[in-house]
Amino acid sequence: MDKNNEIKKLIETFHSEYTQNGEPIRINFREIVTELSSTERYSHLIHSYPAKLLCHIPYFFLQTDYFCPENGVVLDPFCGTGTVMLEANISGRNAKGADANPLACLISKVKTTYIKKEDLQKTLGTIISRAKRFNTNECIDTSSVSRWFSKSTISQLWHLECAIKKVRDTKQQDFFMMCLSNLVKKVSFADPSISVPVKLNPERFAQNPERMESAKFKLKTLENIDVYDKFENICQLNINRIESLKDIYSNGITSEIISNDARLLTKEIGSTEILQDKSVDLILTSPPYAGAQKYIRSSWLNLYWLGTKNSEDIRLLNKQNIGREDYHKADMFRVITSIQAADDVLTSLYDEGKNERAFIVGNYLNEMKSAIDESVRVLKTGGYMIIVIGNNTVCGRPFDTQDYLTTYITSKGLRLQFKLIDDIKSYGLMTKRNKTASRISCEWVLVFKK
Ligand SMILES: C[S@@+](CC[C@H](N)C(=O)[O-])C[C@H]1O[C@@H](n2cnc3c(N)ncnc32)[C@H](O)[C@@H]1O
Repeated sequence: MDKNNEIKKLIETFHSEYTQNGEPIRINFREIVTELSSTERYSHLIHSYPAKLLCHIPYFFLQTDYFCPENGVVLDPFCGTGTVMLEANISGRNAKGADANPLACLISKVKTTYIKKEDLQKTLGTIISRAKRFNTNECIDTSSVSRWFSKSTISQLWHLECAIKKVRDTKQQDFFMMCLSNLVKKVSFADPSISVPVKLNPERFAQNPERMESAKFKLKTLENIDVYDKFENICQLNINRIESLKDIYSNGITSEIISNDARLLTKEIGSTEILQDKSVDLILTSPPYAGAQKYIRSSWLNLYWLGTKNSEDIRLLNKQNIGREDYHKADMFRVITSIQAADDVLTSLYDEGKNERAFIVGNYLNEMKSAIDESVRVLKTGGYMIIVIGNNTVCGRPFDTQDYLTTYITSKGLRLQFKLIDDIKSYGLMTKRNKTASRISCEWVLVFKK
């Protein structure tokens, strides 16, 4: 049996099992998709990012024409680093994506754009020699990042930024900007094990003398690191990753970032023209979780070197982020979602005076409802919507996001086909939440048909 039919049969089994007993089906995508055992696949590892989707999941759903015709359009309205977009392109489909984080948009764009190796090599040489020629005494105001880098690193990063901005070809400029961003945390004093920038503190490892020494050594090395050399190494690795895309993009397959907000899908970024109703065959996405990741806060050092130097701009970007938790008291009000089970949890939180947590999770659901409305609008009749999402707990109570979203999506007329559960084996950058919420331990895959 070929792969397409094999997966179709499996999907039909999931559907009939779910229809019979209404229980989510436990699976392990890593075990089902054994052919993807290698960690390096095309350009997936071009840049790190919090809570990236396991590429096995879109790979699995795109191995068959059950969910999307062979040359159909796949949309990921919360595309992050473009895992779904790249897998859609590899499978021969066109991809569209949206994300509120400009870093995510840049990574997705670069990850799905083929550029000839020779061109990138040549430009890399020009950038390095240009950066090295810049006048080191040139004065820029870097006070907002000065505690994160040594003086010499700041000046090298600045020269690289200026040299890259001189590259005329925008695709190449994007590629090198993304490589610069990739470098930023590696040459900073930020603790690499924490997603939001926190200064590396050797005292944290007081119980482990070896780690403490290694942290001290790292901080010392960072004082005089050769940033140009590190940049060149990162670029070389990424040039090879981009070269691996050659065959994928030789036949006119497209990939576009169309919007900065899943709640308003436009034809292209910056356009006021909205994406046509019923124009997408498949929506496959892993939306943010309620309060689980601080996407903008964790990217702010990167965004600084990509050109967003003003803290007010960072604040505005953060405001667009669904799932954020840093609200001003004045912006919070008593929130209801009209999803009964969720409102019951909110009521009990309010009764206990946990108004802030109630607002964070309630507002998250309301913002997700708007994003779902927009996704339903652009999905073709008969098209599928596949959502990968986790639950968390709020002030000790289960907050069953997957259940609330299911209630809302089915109220919009979509039919639930089945639910899968996969345990998250690699926690990656998922951080242990503060005492009011627990770590998300498994992912739900919800499959709906319009
Ligand atoms: C779980 S991550 C997606 C990860 C992605 N699947 C990947 O593999 O990299 C959720 C994403 O939703 C984005 N996001 C948050 N609010 C958004 C909004 N209003 N519109 C679009 N994207 C948003 C975040 O910036 C983040 O990149």
